[in-house]
Amino acid sequence: MNSNKTIRIALTKGRLEKDTVNLFEKIGYDVSQLRDKGRRLILEIPGADIEVVLAKAADVITYVEHGVCDMGVVGKDTIDEYGGKFFEVCDLGFGRCRFALAVKAGTDFYKGYGVKTIATKYPNVTRRFFEAKGMDVDIVKIEGSVELAPLLSLSDGIVDIVETGTTLKENGLAVYEDVSPISARVIVNPVSMKLKKNDIETLLQKMENNL
Ligand code: PRP
Repeated sequence: MNSNKTIRIALTKGRLEKDTVNLFEKIGYDVSQLRDKGRRLILEIPGADIEVVLAKAADVITYVEHGVCDMGVVGKDTIDEYGGKFFEVCDLGFGRCRFALAVKAGTDFYKGYGVKTIATKYPNVTRRFFEAKGMDVDIVKIEGSVELAPLLSLSDGIVDIVETGTTLKENGLAVYEDVSPISARVIVNPVSMKLKKNDIETLLQKMENNL
């Protein structure tokens, strides 16, 4: 448990990190360390009792669940796939994209009776999506560049993140159906929420006021 007074917040490295640092700057925090971090993974916001940890998306959830970080900023995609014991308290509105079912352009996904195969980095999201339709599918877990799977005839479709749609388009694929919207969320460890209630609520308020 991160028991001192400082709030430790885990940011998802990359795009969400940049957007969150911009938000912190808008609040008026000194983000100089965050902008000039080199390869450091733990950084301070001087004068604000905030420590920032940089982690991969799924690990943000792990650190917050274990209470070694009080809060985290992570995409709804990661939350939907991994779940966990934390409070999801705020939609930051950035990092906006969506989960979608995509197929080779011009293909009718629902045609025919055979069990379809779906390739995805998000097997839990995919399973729930098709379960809700009462449709049986085979799911193949892929680690990246999921667009390859239907092109190589490993699968009939993919469930993946679509942002601009460029990756699909440039590979002859198209969205067949939207699955769910995605954006960056703030998550909070339940024990931290009790022990550091005022400080966490103050920070959340500042973040929300500057979105
Ligand atoms: C994600 C996603 C798509 C792409 C979508 O991949 O899996 O491939 O971005 O973006 P677009 O709609 O703007 O083209 P990412 O870059 O995270 O890499 P990955 O393929 O290794 O998962």
